[in-house]
Amino acid sequence: MTETGPGTDVEPWWKSAVVYQIYPRSFADSNGDGVGDIRGIIDHLDHLEELGVDVIWLSPVFRSPHDDNGYDISDYQDIDPVFGTLSDVDELIADVHGRGMRLIMDLVVNHTSDEHPWFVASRQSRSVPTSDWYIWRDARPGTVGGQPGAEPNNWGSFFSGSAWEWVPAREQYYLHLFSKKQPDLNWENPDLRAAVFDMMSWWLDRGVDGFRMDVINFISKDPSLPDGELMSTGYGDGTPSFSYGPRVHEYLAEMQAEVFAPRPGVYLTVGEMPAVTPEQALAFTDETYGQLSMVFQFEHVDLDSDGEKWAPRPVTVLDVKESLGRWQSAMGSRGWNSLYWNNHDQPRAVSRFGDDRTYWYESATALATVLHLHRGTPYVYQGEELGMTNVPFDTIDDFRDIESLNYYDAEVHGRGRAPDDVLASLRRKSRDNARTPMQWTADEHAGFTHGTPWMPVNPNARHINADAQRHDDRSVYAHYRRLIALRHQEPVVVDGDFEMILARHPQLYAFRRTSPESQLTVYANLSSQPVTVPSAEPGATLLLGNYHDGADGSDLRPWEARVLIRRTSST
Ligand code: NOJ
Repeated sequence: MTETGPGTDVEPWWKSAVVYQIYPRSFADSNGDGVGDIRGIIDHLDHLEELGVDVIWLSPVFRSPHDDNGYDISDYQDIDPVFGTLSDVDELIADVHGRGMRLIMDLVVNHTSDEHPWFVASRQSRSVPTSDWYIWRDARPGTVGGQPGAEPNNWGSFFSGSAWEWVPAREQYYLHLFSKKQPDLNWENPDLRAAVFDMMSWWLDRGVDGFRMDVINFISKDPSLPDGELMSTGYGDGTPSFSYGPRVHEYLAEMQAEVFAPRPGVYLTVGEMPAVTPEQALAFTDETYGQLSMVFQFEHVDLDSDGEKWAPRPVTVLDVKESLGRWQSAMGSRGWNSLYWNNHDQPRAVSRFGDDRTYWYESATALATVLHLHRGTPYVYQGEELGMTNVPFDTIDDFRDIESLNYYDAEVHGRGRAPDDVLASLRRKSRDNARTPMQWTADEHAGFTHGTPWMPVNPNARHINADAQRHDDRSVYAHYRRLIALRHQEPVVVDGDFEMILARHPQLYAFRRTSPESQLTVYANLSSQPVTVPSAEPGATLLLGNYHDGADGSDLRPWEARVLIRRTSST
């Protein structure tokens, strides 16, 4: 077993890594209060080590009022008691390193909680040290602050309603792109930036191996904050003014210089970037001048939305190939992709892009095969390795997520839409699909807690659970383990060039990865109908498949995926 730890590498180790995301609230509860915690994670590290992942990304565990489940932080340098203590985190880091894995934390610095002391002071007065650390603006000229229409601009919040909140004590509005309990930080202020960089260094000193950076492309706003184009909600879309703001590269370069450059070693930095384009992503990740290891782009997970998140749009295999293929070409050999189907904000991929009824196992493993063998760093979201599915939510009372609850309220009570209609949207797209407790066993509450879980367990935990899969060689878990091992064993998975083949085929997702030593060809039938592969692969052998009979003819069964390898004679 190799010990890992900060400062021990000079190469970009994250290129050959697979990252596993833990959403702590829903992972494992050790003390019976119904909420997952850090000791629960420590208790389940064997599951991750056996799976073979290299890095754990921990969603926020910092002190928080939990308006947005921890993405609203009131103290960056302490752990919320519901999750444990700083010494639990120290133990977790040591245990993870001792097993040869690494750990990255979530860095949420586009906004804080409104209960963060910086904001508590800032909202009280215009003459405290942090008064300018948030984005404060006067009411529109000629209006009365606090009255409808007096907001500084027409932007809507991502969590419904206006993006502005009036504070009588300052006679000003503050900007909140997310909930009103998540005020946006003002990165124009150098003292704020220095405080963020100090906090990051403090975590690196504690031993973390990098950061996943929440909506980091939003930190620079066009200071004129112009009105946005009207959306169906009646609010303006502010995204063009902050998704690639004028100073975003400057701020990230400063972070690089202040936080990472002075340290030995290589860190994983992944920027979450809604609305980022491939050209912008390359500018962030270019190996010579980029500021981040990789970014999370959103294009492929927005394909099933018609402009706005909740408006449905059918998605085809061609759409997905066109999008992911274009990102592969755009990052080329200079940039780097992150690869994901799932995270805590997305419905479960097997329900969304696969067939979670008739071909549950086959579609979960076919989707995984395609994703993991692209060029880039794959991310596995907790439960994905078990094929966890969307949830049969009954009523609005089954939901916990602020985005979902606010949307229901705005649509049903604000705009008079039929509740069933809105529930149908939530069942399809709600983030809560990803947030039900991890399914460990077939027991009560899926072995997640011995108390009452903070949100109900998916009833299919009786047959979809880790216990049933860990020792079954034909499980979704076993397939993920093989895919992860393949990345570690075959350099072509990490380094090979990417080339889409059969690009216009409506069912087959097929591509090649080529390096001087070998060529990998992946064929996946992303449909529930059989299909014939039009081209033969002379000299290639089957390396991995998701049907277990080793068949190698030219017919692919529903959701069958095959990985073939041809080695050059010298190897
Ligand atoms: C993106 C996070 O992934 C999401 O969960 C959160 O609600 C928003 N950023 C606001 O922090």
